[in-house]
Amino acid sequence: MDTRLKWKATALLTWLLTTEIAHCLPRVGNEVEATLQNTATESASAFETQYPPSSSEDRLLIPESHPVYRVGLQQDGHSSQQPFPQFDVAKFVDGLGDLLGSGDDTTAPAPTAPTPSTDTGKSDPIQATTSAKHPENSAPNPTAGSVTDPPQKSTTKSDEPVQTGSSPVASDKPKAMHDQDIFQPVATGPIPASIKSRDDHPVKNEHANATDPIATNKFYAGLYLGTQTNATFTQPYSLAWSKGGGSLKSWGMIVSHVQSHMLAYGPPNNKIPGNPVQYYINPVGLQHLIISATELGQSSVMNVEQPKAFSAHAVLKSSAGSAQQITFPVVQGMGYATAVYNDMEPLIESGVFFRKVVSAGSPRPGIFKYQAFLDDDTTWLLYATPADGKDPNFKLVSKTNLRGPKGFSGTIQVAKNPAGKSGEKFYDNSSGVYPVAGEISGSLTDDVGTYTLSWTKAGKDIKGTPLIMFALPHHVHSFDSATKGRITDIHLRTTTKGNSTAVIGESWTMVEKNLPIDIGFAPWSTTDGSVHELSAAAQRAIIQAAPHELKQNIPEQTDLNSMYYSGKALSKFATLVYTVNQLGNNVELAADAFQTLKKSFDLFVQNKQQFPLAYDTIWKGVVSTAGYNGDLNQDFGNTAYNDHHFHYGYFIQAAAIIGSLDPSWLAANKEWVNMLVRDAGNSVANDAHFPFSRSFDWYNGHSWAKGLFESFDGKDQESTSEDTMFAYAIKMWGKTTGDASMEARGNVMLGILGRSLHNYFLMEDDNVNQPANFTANKVTGILFENKVDHTTYFGANLEFVQGIHMLPLMPHSPFTRRKEFVRQEWQAMFAENASTPASKVEGGWRGVLYANLALIDPKAAWEFFAQPNFDYSWIDGGASRTWYLAFVAGESFG
Ligand SMILES: *[C@@H]1O[C@H](CO)[C@@H](O)[C@H](O)[C@H]1NC(C)=O
Ligand SMILES: *[C@@H]1O[C@H](CO)[C@@H](O)[C@H](O)[C@H]1NC(C)=O
Ligand SMILES: *[C@@H]1O[C@H](CO)[C@@H](O)[C@H](O)[C@H]1NC(C)=O
Ligand SMILES: *[C@@H]1O[C@H](CO)[C@@H](O)[C@H](O)[C@H]1NC(C)=O
Ligand SMILES: *[C@@H]1O[C@H](CO)[C@@H](O)[C@H](O)[C@H]1NC(C)=O
Ligand SMILES: *[C@@H]1O[C@H](CO)[C@@H](O)[C@H](O)[C@H]1NC(C)=O
Repeated sequence: MDTRLKWKATALLTWLLTTEIAHCLPRVGNEVEATLQNTATESASAFETQYPPSSSEDRLLIPESHPVYRVGLQQDGHSSQQPFPQFDVAKFVDGLGDLLGSGDDTTAPAPTAPTPSTDTGKSDPIQATTSAKHPENSAPNPTAGSVTDPPQKSTTKSDEPVQTGSSPVASDKPKAMHDQDIFQPVATGPIPASIKSRDDHPVKNEHANATDPIATNKFYAGLYLGTQTNATFTQPYSLAWSKGGGSLKSWGMIVSHVQSHMLAYGPPNNKIPGNPVQYYINPVGLQHLIISATELGQSSVMNVEQPKAFSAHAVLKSSAGSAQQITFPVVQGMGYATAVYNDMEPLIESGVFFRKVVSAGSPRPGIFKYQAFLDDDTTWLLYATPADGKDPNFKLVSKTNLRGPKGFSGTIQVAKNPAGKSGEKFYDNSSGVYPVAGEISGSLTDDVGTYTLSWTKAGKDIKGTPLIMFALPHHVHSFDSATKGRITDIHLRTTTKGNSTAVIGESWTMVEKNLPIDIGFAPWSTTDGSVHELSAAAQRAIIQAAPHELKQNIPEQTDLNSMYYSGKALSKFATLVYTVNQLGNNVELAADAFQTLKKSFDLFVQNKQQFPLAYDTIWKGVVSTAGYNGDLNQDFGNTAYNDHHFHYGYFIQAAAIIGSLDPSWLAANKEWVNMLVRDAGNSVANDAHFPFSRSFDWYNGHSWAKGLFESFDGKDQESTSEDTMFAYAIKMWGKTTGDASMEARGNVMLGILGRSLHNYFLMEDDNVNQPANFTANKVTGILFENKVDHTTYFGANLEFVQGIHMLPLMPHSPFTRRKEFVRQEWQAMFAENASTPASKVEGGWRGVLYANLALIDPKAAWEFFAQPNFDYSWIDGGASRTWYLAFVAGESFG
């Protein structure tokens, strides 16, 4: 122990021994004021608050000086691999010469530039190939012969898409939906027989007490993983089991709330205009209040019960098997931290120190209120609801200890009140009740999505007592008018999502309008919608570029030792086949690749890939077996439930394309693909095989990628674009398979993501939710529950950090990556005058940046992808130049 702490402890003890605590509680009318009287032996400086930190132990809790805290990168299953393999170009050019009639075997010829004056439509080396169309594909090409088209063409908004005859993908036009439930079951059958069950998951479940599937990527995983001492982020509060640690060595549950002046900031990044800080982090380990009991100690145990999507219950027992326990229902957005005591002596501690505790009467019958004023100038309210109705008569026995009666049963609730009397009346009015679980429902009508979060409650007089719950900014912005009417003026900062707002009532309804329901497989733009027919020039360019890429070794590129890379490659080839078949109107050209693609996909359905999947019966989910061999970091931590929405999203999108081009394929493959959907994004909470919505967090409005890895800073996500890809993938798979509920759910998720990414991750100049000197980073980098770090797990190059929020560039990209955002980011980072000009970026990242540029300057992007002597090392292993050409051509050339 640090000598200074020892001294502090001695001072405390001296003080305790020399103060007659019970006698310093003078009655003031109806109120009992417990103000600590300093005695001669206690010097004021003996007691130091944890914030700002003054002891070395407390300072350890502020991670600024500890680079290891900055990104616990190596500990959580994220290896430092790039998000795509870079394939050797030479590997995939076999036979190219035959097709092109050219000896050049490393680069494809440049597609014809779309400039009207130079585009004569005259023959080029692969004109013969383009005319060798599938005999059935006899529909006239509406733009053939037109030599003056810019790459932009007709859209679904102005034209009926052209039927391509042989192809089942006649139109991406969405079917109108009316009041479509977005949470119907995906499937209810067993796990496909090819997937073997295993009960030896490398992460043992020692503390989550459930036979139902356990949510692995949720905000409370710190309660059941590892040391069980890392924080649970309910927002705006954080809870953590003290477990004998911290300066008070408490065994209770810490409740803390961080204000913006307490943040620690990283160094400025001078590569970015405005020199934003590289990261910010909330201090961990602050102990504003600790809800404890005198019976807790060395032999105390904590277990988690009912681990669900929006809640879990932490049960703290004085010892295993004891009936003396405190249950903490932890629920996202809960207005108070609530503790349900069974026969224990309450001990409320504070590492920040009580300045004063005032007994403040009974706001409602049977409820006893205290106001606690802490040394960091914050005010907290404490409500005790004893089962026996007797005044619990809490006593402040020291600057750190507030004690209740022996054998207490009932609830204790604490809340921080930043809003004086006007805030207190709301807390008073809802005291005694608390949420125990959350639920979600939702529907889609035309392009309007509606979703409702609601909570079941418990406590005293629940019938007539409304809940008080905290909403995040993106909720408040989309509240329907009834919910808006229940907003209070209580605002508390959240750890990484701006201010939360307290709302009265047991449910909120959010409305997302103008959903991009018309996004299909074809390029899409905010102005023109879905673009099925590219100009003749663009079609020619596609058909010219495609053979080179269709000749890649599909089996070799798709059967990798990683679900992530394999999924990306399958998605690449499916998208390529679609592009040639549907946008290039050349079924024949892609026919062989399509057959090979189906075979390669089948390897996974047969579960014969390098690392087969297994059904894990412990946590309940489908995982890669790569991590069963001792290294959980294999395949980005897939085995421990990292990144399932990223990995499986690519497979699902590939399947959606394959099934739409060949509906006969669906029968044998639908069950397997649905299994992936159920694993990463299940639609129901009563599936015995999978938890509800593993990745997507319907409260936070985006997914969390981190699975079963204990973490200082909670869950995190670094790729918002791959998160969006999952929503898009299930939308398209739902459409392909006729699962209207899934399609609608994907649409609503896209709408929510559009809003939450704009609010928290993709920061325009006017962003108010992230710290002012952080927003010039334009993207968060990795957003954790407790910190935001402008970096990636594989390096901090600007093209990595920004680019991982761009890829894959797909039809949904223009929806979440708003033009104004893309413009600001480009100007600040990738323009010619910026620190990292796109034109000089190496490898596949250059292609990613230029495809992204299409969202604001398709002409420049086109010139990049259509240039002669195009270098294929600019295309990453998860993308194709052919699709990029189509993608760029589909953007509005204005
Ligand atoms: C960032 O802003 C915070 C809060 O205003 C300030 O304390 C900190 O010094 C700033 N950091 C830099 C590098 O400007
Ligand atoms: C956990 O489950 C067991 C039996 O399934 C039960 O006896 C116990 O009370 C549960 N709760 C806790 C907190 O351990
Ligand atoms: C207090 O709760 C009652 C319902 O029990 C509600 O009618 C009333 O509006 C609430 N008052 C405040 C200030 O929230
Ligand atoms: C949090 O998790 C880390 C990483 O597993 C662990 O080292 C640490 O002890 C845990 N608890 C706290 C309070 O940091
Ligand atoms: C968040 O709340 C703080 C404290 O009330 C306030 O100063 C700040 O302006 C708020 N921020 C936003 C974006 O509303
Ligand atoms: C590059 O120039 C544009 C205007 O031409 C300007 O808006 C932008 O801020 C500049 N970028 C950098 C990084 O200086």
